[in-house]
Amino acid sequence: MAPRPLIAGNWKMNGSLKSLVELKPIAEAAERLRPRCDVLICPPATILSASHGILGSAAAVGGQDCHAEASGAHTGDVAAEMLADLGARFVIVGHSERRTDHDESDAVVRAKAEAASRAGLTAIVCVGESEEERKAGRALDVLRAQLAGSVPEGATPDNLVVAYEPLWAIGSGRTATSADVAEAHALIRSELSDRFGPAGVAGIRILYGGSVNPDNAAGLLAIDNVDGALVGGCSLKAETFIAICEAVPDLREPASAA
Ligand code: PGA
Repeated sequence: MAPRPLIAGNWKMNGSLKSLVELKPIAEAAERLRPRCDVLICPPATILSASHGILGSAAAVGGQDCHAEASGAHTGDVAAEMLADLGARFVIVGHSERRTDHDESDAVVRAKAEAASRAGLTAIVCVGESEEERKAGRALDVLRAQLAGSVPEGATPDNLVVAYEPLWAIGSGRTATSADVAEAHALIRSELSDRFGPAGVAGIRILYGGSVNPDNAAGLLAIDNVDGALVGGCSLKAETFIAICEAVPDLREPASAA
């Protein structure tokens, strides 16, 4: 059985107390769409607790990063345990912006994913190739190496989600072709399966991210092994984010004869 779809919003370094107004309609939509998908918002840590208060049990909240250690002398960092303490259930690790801005290596990302699991959170491990790597025909090799280096041992559907985000598609308005997305997601599934065995891996969700919007969401979500989306820009407004959630097919509806 295909994993239950997950539509995740990544607010990045955007959002203040004023932005919380977007969350009430998202909570209502998530409740209505519960039969179709899980909904997650990853706001900045500063408003994570307030976001959880508004979303309640309708949608999950998650962090955008965590430190590998549970506590200690790391000024400015946030531990996975602290995110869990505020009600987070997920945390994004290894987003390409952190890999670039903070020089995060695969080993660092893996340690953060392990920390997430230790704290009872699901890590959303991001992988993706640069435009140069794709043009050089190295996209799949890059993904293989990132997965091998960033995904910890003992991956299960409860502690791991993988997000495929080609770097050149993030915030650019450009998305990968359906064929490229299908190829990357199939590769990710098969690498996980080789390492952890097909039974456990079947339930692990693989999200596509990079300029997902209300117009392209249905097409992307229909691709094999695409179990949801990681949405940046279009998650900041309830209207566009809800439209993306609504693009998840309702499998209870009979397919149209047309
Ligand atoms: P985008 O960001 O939807 O704005 O391209 C996606 C992401 O970086 O997670």
